[in-house]
Amino acid sequence: MNEPLEITDAPKIVVAIDGYSSSGKSTMARELAKRVGYVYVDSGAMYRAVTLFALRNGLINEDGLVNKEGLIPHLHNLEVSFEQKTGKDGVQHTLLNGEDVEKEIREMRVSSHVSPVAVIPEVRERMVQLQQLMGKKKGIVMDGRDIGTTVFPNAELKVFVYAGLHERARRRWRELANKGMDIRFEEVYSNLEERDRIDTTREVSPLIKAEDAIELDNGAVTHEEQMEWLIKLFQDTIERIENESRS
Ligand code: CDP
Repeated sequence: MNEPLEITDAPKIVVAIDGYSSSGKSTMARELAKRVGYVYVDSGAMYRAVTLFALRNGLINEDGLVNKEGLIPHLHNLEVSFEQKTGKDGVQHTLLNGEDVEKEIREMRVSSHVSPVAVIPEVRERMVQLQQLMGKKKGIVMDGRDIGTTVFPNAELKVFVYAGLHERARRRWRELANKGMDIRFEEVYSNLEERDRIDTTREVSPLIKAEDAIELDNGAVTHEEQMEWLIKLFQDTIERIENESRS
């Protein structure tokens, strides 16, 4: 089941996986990339890294207001990259200007400020630019909120994942607790609720299903079923493209 797929000679495609927070899209995206030998990019980690930068530099005040004018001039110097070599925990690590910030960007301090940072058009512009560069050679699986709509509108395969808020909050709470973070369920729940609100209503690239994205209700399937479904979809897409190029 977890064997790499034999797709060496197949055309490379772009896979865009969008959806709500904690809907399981990152796990799906990461596993698919591993199975098919593609690069995996967690675009949310990039917005989290920018948020960490803003917090560290006093660019977010106690009321959560972001100092846009202070942040924007730094954007072109900010380097967010990923260490493809996976760490001991088997997770890809996010680097901010070369520093491994993987643990810090997952903390609630970042989660509770990231959506207001991700609303800023200049932040989005810079991140989208970096993301498009990463996908230039295709052979990439990227997950986020606007990958199928804005970053790669021509992606060959687009998936939109959703699941109920309570189920998502339960998953995220458990994930954080397993990482040793002492956090109340209610705090996780209201953070997801608030981020959903901001992410779906912002002006630039709101979280919305691309017209041609295929939906997955992730609350209704097991992890194995979800991966089987995704792999099949991936194989069908490759087959379709091969057929199209022959005709
Ligand atoms: O891990 P989780 O699913 O909770 O969120 P994430 O993927 O790490 O994204 C964190 C936040 O970054 C989201 O709530 C959005 O505000 C923002 N984001 C975005 O605006 N566009 C993306 N493509 C990815 C994330």
